[in-house]
Amino acid sequence: MGNTEQRIGLWMVGAGGAVGSAAALGVAALSKDRIEKTGLVTALPVFADLDLPGAGRIVVGGHEVRATTLLESVQSLHSESAVIPPEVIASCTPELKRMQRDVAPGIMLRGEKLVRAGAGVQSRSLPTAAAAVKRISNDLRTFRRNHRLAHVVVINVSSTEPPASSQAAPPEYAKLARFMQRSGADALPVSSLYALGAFEADCSYLNFTPSTGMRLPAIEQFARQRDVLFMGRDGKTGETLLKSALAPMFATRHLIVRSWVGHNVLGNRDGLALSDPEVKRSKLDTKQIILEPILGYRPDTRTSIEYVPSLADWKTAWDLVDFEGFLGAKMRLQFTWTGSDSLLAAPLVIDLARLTAFEYSRGNRGRMDHLACFFKDPDGAAEHRYYQQWQHLLEHAHRPATTRA
Ligand SMILES: NC(=O)c1ccc[n+]([C@@H]2O[C@H](COP(=O)([O-])OP(=O)(O)OC[C@H]3O[C@@H](n4cnc5c(N)ncnc54)[C@H](O)[C@@H]3O)[C@@H](O)[C@H]2O)c1
Repeated sequence: MGNTEQRIGLWMVGAGGAVGSAAALGVAALSKDRIEKTGLVTALPVFADLDLPGAGRIVVGGHEVRATTLLESVQSLHSESAVIPPEVIASCTPELKRMQRDVAPGIMLRGEKLVRAGAGVQSRSLPTAAAAVKRISNDLRTFRRNHRLAHVVVINVSSTEPPASSQAAPPEYAKLARFMQRSGADALPVSSLYALGAFEADCSYLNFTPSTGMRLPAIEQFARQRDVLFMGRDGKTGETLLKSALAPMFATRHLIVRSWVGHNVLGNRDGLALSDPEVKRSKLDTKQIILEPILGYRPDTRTSIEYVPSLADWKTAWDLVDFEGFLGAKMRLQFTWTGSDSLLAAPLVIDLARLTAFEYSRGNRGRMDHLACFFKDPDGAAEHRYYQQWQHLLEHAHRPATTRA
């Protein structure tokens, strides 16, 4: 059986959220040929010669802590934000219901905001961090076995967490494993428990959120021991995508950026989560990371994020770039970007699943640096310029499978 005939799993942590449910709907609609492939990077002709799994070969499952369904979530994207055509939802309802059977209760450590947001909670509390990891890896193994999947790609699309506290976990995996046996599940960020669970079950893991995930030395060590694929973090879908495309222009024209101010407003559940000042810090950290490495100096940067419920899934970014040219002339660029947050992200989740499954089938393992163009704060990457990241993806994808990070 050729690679394209094998089925792969796309397991989303936070499957019932806006990004997760829109990606699930996307897989269903693409597999039935009900939608155009606009927004799906891997549908570009330049990838046509690669043996990427088609949507019909992708089986969707995930973890979720709110008592909601994939169908209810995409319906609310339609009713609140008018971003999904109702006929697409109607035609994919049987598939969404089938996928729902593979959405397992998640593990929740910080639930207050979710509960206030109105949904009930379906979460499992476990006595130790080690037990939580075991539970997660068992769910993944069951999913792989039940559907006879060649490989499972786990993608974190769950609510953003606050930055990990400084009383860090042990830096070596052997010590971390002992620490997790005697510590409560909240000894580690929940995103890190999911990353460990994925590695334990020999799955690939990608972090589409700014949460910690596998960004702890002991967890990366474990990933390398398990010889798995991994990459993160925080999907690059809007303002930061523009920054990574525009900042190199200032650098190569020798125009000096004095300040870059960005104000973002959004009204979806992600916006609600980000209205917690601690959680917001995680997002601001990943949003502000790229200018200095691209420009070679640190301009005055200010980024703000405000939750405005009436905007629902429509996120607007206003940016003002104050820059200096020849003879010290002061000039300005201003731009406004308004996008449907979830529909910018959902196709990228599908792209990441396809590219990761392809990488796995070629026998490559380790950190997937070539996926940096998909992330605001790419793991291990010194390169933040969008065009260079894009070239890296193209070159790597067409290169024989030998590279290991
Ligand atoms: N939309 C974008 O363009 C974009 C870009 C980059 C990053 N992201 C990130 O993607 C994530 C998802 O965004 P969203 O708009 O879908 O948010 P959302 O709130 O709609 O979805 C998150 C889902 O995760 C679930 N969840 C929370 N804690 C969980 C846990 N412990 N286990 C399992 N599930 C859990 C929530 O119940 C919710 O359904 C956020 O972290 C966001 O910052 C989104």
